[in-house]
Amino acid sequence: MTKKEIRFGIIGLGLMGREFGSAAARWCHLLDLDFAPVITGICDTNEALFDWYTSNFDTITVKTTDYHDLLNSDDIDAIYCAVPHNLHQQFYTDIIKAGKHLLGEKPFGIDIAANNAIQQEIDRHPDVVVACSSEFPFFPGAQRIIKYIEEARFGQIIDVSCGLLHSSDLDPNKKINWKRMININGEYGCMGDLGMHTLHIPLRSGWMPESLRAMLSNIVTQRPNAQGDMVPCETWDNATLCCDVRTVDQQFPMYIKTYRIAPGETNTWYIRITGTEFCAEFSSKYPKTLKTMRYNGGEQSWNMTDLGYSSAYSTITGGIFEFGFSDAMLQMWAAFCDQLAHGRDGMKQPFYCATPEEAHLHHRILTAALESNKKKQVISL
Ligand SMILES: NC(=O)c1ccc[n+]([C@@H]2O[C@H](COP(=O)([O-])OP(=O)(O)OC[C@H]3O[C@@H](n4cnc5c(N)ncnc54)[C@H](O)[C@@H]3O)[C@@H](O)[C@H]2O)c1
Repeated sequence: MTKKEIRFGIIGLGLMGREFGSAAARWCHLLDLDFAPVITGICDTNEALFDWYTSNFDTITVKTTDYHDLLNSDDIDAIYCAVPHNLHQQFYTDIIKAGKHLLGEKPFGIDIAANNAIQQEIDRHPDVVVACSSEFPFFPGAQRIIKYIEEARFGQIIDVSCGLLHSSDLDPNKKINWKRMININGEYGCMGDLGMHTLHIPLRSGWMPESLRAMLSNIVTQRPNAQGDMVPCETWDNATLCCDVRTVDQQFPMYIKTYRIAPGETNTWYIRITGTEFCAEFSSKYPKTLKTMRYNGGEQSWNMTDLGYSSAYSTITGGIFEFGFSDAMLQMWAAFCDQLAHGRDGMKQPFYCATPEEAHLHHRILTAALESNKKKQVISL
């Protein structure tokens, strides 16, 4: 099958830049797709990062410390941008202005003002395809829950919980980095880092809260810097949002947790929905297992199903095997490239990447959470 090549430039070659590079490098893992990303440009101010890319990809024609070189290149159709949050507004608006399609990392602007500026540029360029990175909903267990939501299986929803939990910040000697500095990461703290991951499925489901009460905590207030001196660590470590969701026919509480200090947890993403007729729960802690409970009277008993590798896009991996983080990244990239190649309506499977509109709603929620915590009040949205 001839494949349409989508030529990508990567801005920000750190942790996430490499994840995309790796996904592009193993595109042969995916079956029956008529499109493929090709890495033609790379950009980072840290030139030491170039080597991994240039030694693994012989398709790179632009290698630069100035991202404008990628935007001016005819060898690039689309950009993956994975830079610190304080750069999102300038970089994303420039990318869109240059007419390059964009998969931008969350939180899609350091704050709501930055996000509004990005949205205005998107509105001025309707032909540019823009999406926000969010990979966890591509886990098979999450995909199954999305299907249950679409099928309205739950009866009356009792409650919804969604979270993303980390624990490495429990170590007070962990060195401070940009994700723990307000001027670079943003005032949202842990919510800016983890919030989009928890809100993608609820927002896709139409569960925008009407109001919320947030409790934010800064547990480790100082950390060593690169020289070993203790410096203030002012970002929020943990956030709990208690949301009131009302839809046409449902009203229920939704609990959102974004924790950098959840003892023992390593990138644990979960969603749990309980209802009067059906309940479902998936956690990346048990990546192949889906928990469900059907209720029509009688004994109440949760059922555990090992889904294995039943991904949205077919792959060479047999269904009896397990799915992981890098598989979710690959599936998200397949969805973005599918949207670029065929438009949202022509995609091979229906679950598209998080939209700028969803990213904007998540900013409204996080901004309200800051206000709620500050005033110790419920905030209407
Ligand atoms: N989707 C996910 O699961 C996930 C996970 C982690 C981080 N992220 C997001 O990805 C983005 C990047 O995070 P990361 O963990 O990869 O960070 P990182 O620090 O590992 O990488 C960021 C890179 O940007 C580069 N950079 C800084 N200023 C630059 C400039 N002016 N021009 C070009 N490059 C520049 C840095 O040198 C660095 O290599 C953030 O928005 C973050 O929230 C997403």
